Amino acid sequence: PVQHNADGIPILHAVPEDVQADRERLYQEGPLTRVELPGGVRAWATTHHEASRLTLNDPRLVKSVDHWADFQDGTVTAEWPLMATIPTDNTNMLALDGDAHRRLRTLTASPFSARRVERLRPRIERLTARYLDTLEEGAHEPQDLKSGFTFKVPMGVIGELYGIGEDEYVHLGEMYAKLFSGTTEPGEHIEIYGALFQFFTDVVARKKANLDECDDFTADLLRTGVESEDGLSDTEVVVTLLTVVAAGHETTVNLLTNAVRALLNHPEQRELLKRGEVSWEDVIEETLRFDPPNNVMMFRFATEDVEVAGQTIRKGEALLTHYGAATRDRAEFGDDVHVFDPKRSRGRHISFGYGPHICPGAPLSRLESRIILPMLFERFPDLELAVPDESLEVVAALSTNSLKEFPVVLRP
Ligand code: HEM
Repeated sequence: PVQHNADGIPILHAVPEDVQADRERLYQEGPLTRVELPGGVRAWATTHHEASRLTLNDPRLVKSVDHWADFQDGTVTAEWPLMATIPTDNTNMLALDGDAHRRLRTLTASPFSARRVERLRPRIERLTARYLDTLEEGAHEPQDLKSGFTFKVPMGVIGELYGIGEDEYVHLGEMYAKLFSGTTEPGEHIEIYGALFQFFTDVVARKKANLDECDDFTADLLRTGVESEDGLSDTEVVVTLLTVVAAGHETTVNLLTNAVRALLNHPEQRELLKRGEVSWEDVIEETLRFDPPNNVMMFRFATEDVEVAGQTIRKGEALLTHYGAATRDRAEFGDDVHVFDPKRSRGRHISFGYGPHICPGAPLSRLESRIILPMLFERFPDLELAVPDESLEVVAALSTNSLKEFPVVLRP
């Protein structure tokens, strides 16, 4: 059943009870609905595909909090825990619009071009093989595939690319998980953000002192500032690292975990995959639709009144994209939206976003998944869940669609 507040507005909980059921009920409220978020904060949400696509690409709906009336008048403050997912500073590409956004994207996103990413293949294969080796010892016992593998490889890849020490990965992962958690105390995220900011400030200072000897992406970012006046400032490099390391591991971890989960729950698809009747690309794209790594993406703000699907988002109001609900759109994907069908012939998911902020990391995470998933199933062809699927618990966070743990037996 749909839970509504006293004004009849659907409530989005910080701790989702049933992710799949929530998607369907929110889809039913769409294409555009008001929602109440934890802490009583009000916003709009697009929960259908076309409304999401149109609003993500509408220049009247912007990312800068300067246009958010509730934030400007103090109704919502920096202490609100979900502010962890809404950058407020003008050094973060996720908070910028127009030319300032284009500048930062051009200066930071070039490492992710399909051509440069393809060259990373041998490095990703090497890392994957190494982490697979570490799984051998406990292969006959139940173990958490998330902390033991699907977290490690994407974190290893992004860490290696940006030159971050391997001994920092677990600690970094924990800090990010806490930052984006829906259950932190008001203001706690500010402290965690401060610690992450300091961590990357130290990384940048170390690299800058030895710039000639560094050949990672962090050094490339710093060189833009050395070579040109319009290059990146040190703070912009710090914030870029903070963003890219967050975006570069968590979502890919979810994609990998959700793909393995979907395959374990659909042995018939695994069989088709073995026989070459379904491709890994199909499995990856259908996982992005069926169980998208981001459930919710916050916020765009209306710079003027904007009509969407017959309703008006007033100037100054906030709008979120409910990716999870939009994946249940019959008009886009057909009537069988609840079925995991890699051979689906209809629809194109927007799980990497759409419009000017579309994910620059999409080629990298597609390549990673294309390498990591087959290598995992080749090494452990009998891999199975160690607990019933119904008992798997999700992380308490509105934005990310992530399992707390993913217990499997690799060699039953
Ligand atoms: C932006 C999803 C992997 C870096 C986005 C957005 C989405 C998204 C939906 C748009 C945000 C918005 O419109 O407000 C995903 C998914 C991934 C993934 C589902 C994996 C399955 C990555 C990776 C990286 C990355 C591997 C980097 C290495 C970024 C950055 C932005 C972004 C920097 C901000 C772009 C901008 O504001 O212009 N991602 N992402 N992402 N993503 Fe990803």
